[in-house]
Amino acid sequence: MSEFEKRVREIEENASEAIKKAADLDRLNEIRISFLGKKGILTSVLKSMKDVPPEDRPMVGKWVNDARAVIEGRMEETRRYLEAEKQNARLKAEEIDVTLPAKTKAYGHRHPNTSVLEEVERIFVGMGYEVIEGPEIEYDEYNFTKLNIPANHPAKDEQDTFYITDDILLRTQTSPVQARIMEQGRLPIRMIAPGRVFRSDEVDATHSPSFHQIEGLVIDKGITFADLKGTLDVFAKKLFGPDTKTKFRPHHFPFTEPSAEVDVSCFKCGGKGCRFCKGEGWIEILGCGMVHPHVLEMCGIDPEVYGGFAFGVGLERITLLKYEIDDMRLLYENDVRFLRQF
Ligand code: DAH
Repeated sequence: MSEFEKRVREIEENASEAIKKAADLDRLNEIRISFLGKKGILTSVLKSMKDVPPEDRPMVGKWVNDARAVIEGRMEETRRYLEAEKQNARLKAEEIDVTLPAKTKAYGHRHPNTSVLEEVERIFVGMGYEVIEGPEIEYDEYNFTKLNIPANHPAKDEQDTFYITDDILLRTQTSPVQARIMEQGRLPIRMIAPGRVFRSDEVDATHSPSFHQIEGLVIDKGITFADLKGTLDVFAKKLFGPDTKTKFRPHHFPFTEPSAEVDVSCFKCGGKGCRFCKGEGWIEILGCGMVHPHVLEMCGIDPEVYGGFAFGVGLERITLLKYEIDDMRLLYENDVRFLRQF
């Protein structure tokens, strides 16, 4: 065996030995550079080729190339092995212990107003009503004029209403949705319209500059006050319990004639009179009436053919009643410790 052949064999063995011992991919790369790199040990053999007689050079070249192939093969094998090992180590490190107790999540809670609104919607949808919404920023015309509320009406005063311009305002009631839906001319109508309303009121236990109402409107042929009474009686019984009685007291609203306010028998004392109903036995819950013929006309409906009833409920009012909360401000503070009770 020639000097050269021995040297190449030795290099091959040394490289194989080093590769076998390589503990990681970095080390393997170092080995590659030191044996096969431009200034590597094996390459240096080729560089000393000038000392080899020309006729032996192809032979030496072949040994070197064979050795390179063997070393590269070993390296590839080891590289695969080390990579698999690295991957396994990572999988092991990232292993999830599914038996650990789960982290608790803080869930929110339905606001009592939302729960009551959903209940009211369920009751009316169950009677075939549609739920629709109108704009919170409204024209004076819809909020007042088309509802038969004259220019000198106290509700129009700046003390009560937030005006944006002379004829645009934050709606003071959900009743303008009545005019909007009637104008569309698709009859009959059976709808409720819940939403936010605004009045220039100081905050106290029963007032807020922003609160919610639920408007109701039915327009069809042959609707009578008996339909209104029957509907609202069913509503009160479903919301406050089957023993609830209703009482209709004459009242005035510009857009209904006749108009009434509805009281329910106190569901705390059953009507005998207690602190909850302030000794009255009755609690007021809403306003209602038969839609005024002039309102129908202004909205393009012939009052000789069609008629109907309307009602407006204060959402906060019935929420406070239903959950026996005595201060409206609690509904707006959104303290979860408070909300969680309902
Ligand atoms: N919009 C009235 C208010 O805010 C409530 C109301 C009363 C609505 C009678 C009606 C109704 O639809 O018929 O005080």
